[in-house]
Amino acid sequence: MNQFSDDPRFAGILPFEKRVWLSSPTMHGDEQRWVDDAIRSNWVSTVGENINEVERQIASFIGCKYAVALSCGTAALHLATRLAGEKLYGQAQPNQGTLQGHRVFCSDMTFSASINPVAYEDGEAVFIDTERDCWGMDPVALEKAFEVYPDVRLVVIAHLYGTPGKMEELKAICDRHGALIVEDAAESLGAKYRLNGSWVETGTLGDYNCISFNGNKIITGSAGGMFLTDCEEDAKKVRKWSTQSREAALWYQHEEIGYNYRMSNIIAGIVRGQLSYLDEHMAQKKAIYERYRAGLADLPVKMNPFDAEKSKPNFWLSCMTIDEDAMAPQVRGAKDYLYRTAPYKSSPMEILDALAAFNAEGRPIWKPMHLQPIYGPHAFITAEGNGRARTNAYIAGSGIDVGADIFDRGLCLPSDNKLMPEQQDQIIEIIHRCFD
Ligand SMILES: Cc1ncc(COP(=O)(O)O)c(C=O)c1O
Repeated sequence: MNQFSDDPRFAGILPFEKRVWLSSPTMHGDEQRWVDDAIRSNWVSTVGENINEVERQIASFIGCKYAVALSCGTAALHLATRLAGEKLYGQAQPNQGTLQGHRVFCSDMTFSASINPVAYEDGEAVFIDTERDCWGMDPVALEKAFEVYPDVRLVVIAHLYGTPGKMEELKAICDRHGALIVEDAAESLGAKYRLNGSWVETGTLGDYNCISFNGNKIITGSAGGMFLTDCEEDAKKVRKWSTQSREAALWYQHEEIGYNYRMSNIIAGIVRGQLSYLDEHMAQKKAIYERYRAGLADLPVKMNPFDAEKSKPNFWLSCMTIDEDAMAPQVRGAKDYLYRTAPYKSSPMEILDALAAFNAEGRPIWKPMHLQPIYGPHAFITAEGNGRARTNAYIAGSGIDVGADIFDRGLCLPSDNKLMPEQQDQIIEIIHRCFD
């Protein structure tokens, strides 16, 4: 244990014997049956009954016509983005991306996999700031972005931590500007959203929709993802691109660039075994969220917000932010950090260090894309307009940056669905002691 072992604030607390994870796979045994089935029947390939079955079951659950099983959510997002690019700007040369010379508006507070496909396709991501009500793309900032860049025709929107964003407003803005949406529902499988009065699943809210079965997601295949659509032509195209773009010939004949992105029948077997546990996992995650909310209610902190009228999150990760006036000093560099303890105050890095010292895994809030060195030169639009270069030597800092603020004051709490109430109570106690 590090310095926390002799910090009197934590006297009497013992480290967890077994590591408490942020969000780890939860196997139930049924997965083995379908993996064995694939091996016994020799369908150990990117074709097989498990793939057909998970595609059928997910399409039926989500309420879309077609689900295409792929190697990961990133692959789904790449092909979704490529499809959008081709639809908007035509077929690209083999050595060019479909978005070359075009800007794309992108969620800023998300994992990089949402928006890297814009770069794979040679486009330029423009990051749109975050709103405070559900930590999604801010519709006001999106509207501003269309004022600044009226030519943009594609918007990539992610739902963060399993909470649907303000899709009704975002969709209306995109419709008004004739823009297509790539929806990244990688973290939000099972979350519901009330669109124009009807409840629908996330994964149906864009023109091109994606989910993930990554090992940390609410159900998993160890890896895997899907492209979801109602358009048969798009589904066929994604299937073709994901299996190396072979034309209808006996030999390998290629008229467009291809990828090896199809899901394996073994992975699909694990997903197949997990599907019936999605509701159970969501209920466990919701209970964890509620327990944190109750247990932390007396501290100057807030849980990650959602709009209960418009959405039913899947509660994939529970997060909290520390109120501004209860923040102890903390600074973060590119890879290192420093913080100071202060009475009745704390900081995300102190809490994360304390949790780690007692063998529990939390994580910083996903660092916004506009703060990532790789995307430093890219535009960032807030509710006030241009989010970069907002000060000069003679004018004090002005402007807002919601994403940076949530990143500064927030953290992801251990949210594993196997977390026991007693373990969670100890985590809540550790957080309380950080504020002593
Ligand atoms: C928001 C988001 N988008 C995309 C991905 C990528 O999915 P995958 O890991 O399946 O490629 C992830 C997670 O991994 C994610 O959290």
